[in-house]
Amino acid sequence: MEYIDLAGHRVLITGGAGSGVGSGICEALYQGGAKIIINDIDSRNLSKASEKYPEALTVNANLEDPAAVEQMLFRIEEFCGGVNGLVNNAGIGLSKVAHEVTEEEFAHLYGVNVQAVWRLSKLFVRRCMERNEKGNIVNISSVHAHSTQSRYAIYASAKNAIVGLTRGMACEIGPLGFRVNAVGPGYVHAEQNYDLIKTWAEDPHQWVRDFVQNHQVLNHEINAVDIGNTVAFLLSDLARSITGQNIYVDNGTTSLIFNRDFT
Ligand SMILES: NC(=O)c1ccc[n+]([C@@H]2O[C@H](COP(=O)([O-])OP(=O)(O)OC[C@H]3O[C@@H](n4cnc5c(N)ncnc54)[C@H](O)[C@@H]3O)[C@@H](O)[C@H]2O)c1
Repeated sequence: MEYIDLAGHRVLITGGAGSGVGSGICEALYQGGAKIIINDIDSRNLSKASEKYPEALTVNANLEDPAAVEQMLFRIEEFCGGVNGLVNNAGIGLSKVAHEVTEEEFAHLYGVNVQAVWRLSKLFVRRCMERNEKGNIVNISSVHAHSTQSRYAIYASAKNAIVGLTRGMACEIGPLGFRVNAVGPGYVHAEQNYDLIKTWAEDPHQWVRDFVQNHQVLNHEINAVDIGNTVAFLLSDLARSITGQNIYVDNGTTSLIFNRDFT
């Protein structure tokens, strides 16, 4: 496979140690020659990431904790003098109708999916400016920023907040030489998903086949590196005139008004 050339890029990927979207982002950026710094709250997965990418810095930090974030940025500065790329990938889900969500659940979902993205982006911009360096931010949104379903109102609202933050920050810091974009994945398939899918579908393999057949325009499964390649493109100079955008990587899910079997 060919990868976008990212030589000279030093990029922090949050939530990058999981088996989901973050793994594909790390893969695409690493293969493109970027120096990658992988953050996660999960130390076991971070150890695995460190084995896979021995040259990378891995940092265990809870992004909801401002002190831990400051400490992480300090370690990154020691490691490589600071990053010029930031991928805000870490995120959590919530499957519950809005009228039953608790204050704690709402605060936690917004704490990770919105507030932490703003906090880290703010610190990233300030530090780049102190070093007189231009930078590039890519936020991971979701198809839920476009259209959603029952039990996802809070998650969808948070992902819409990310799209708004992306546009707004792009306007604010574009004149300073920064670009800010978002990537909105559709259903990203991974073998590990079958365990989760089992919680709502009797036959998880059939569920994935039905999803691909009925809810996507293209007939293949999206994999994590598909998301990573789009992130790599947006970080690269090939995207030098793109800012404030939210690009869906969804095999056409957001283009369908009805299921494909609707006639
Ligand atoms: N997987 C999909 O199909 C899909 C679709 C659309 C959008 N997304 C988005 O992609 C991103 C990654 O999701 P994923 O599905 O790969 O999930 P995932 O659980 O595999 O990855 C998320 C990672 O974030 C880490 N994390 C969670 N809270 C954290 C915190 N407070 N501090 C630091 N790290 C933290 C987790 O440990 C995990 O490794 C999320 O923003 C999600 O909303 C995923």
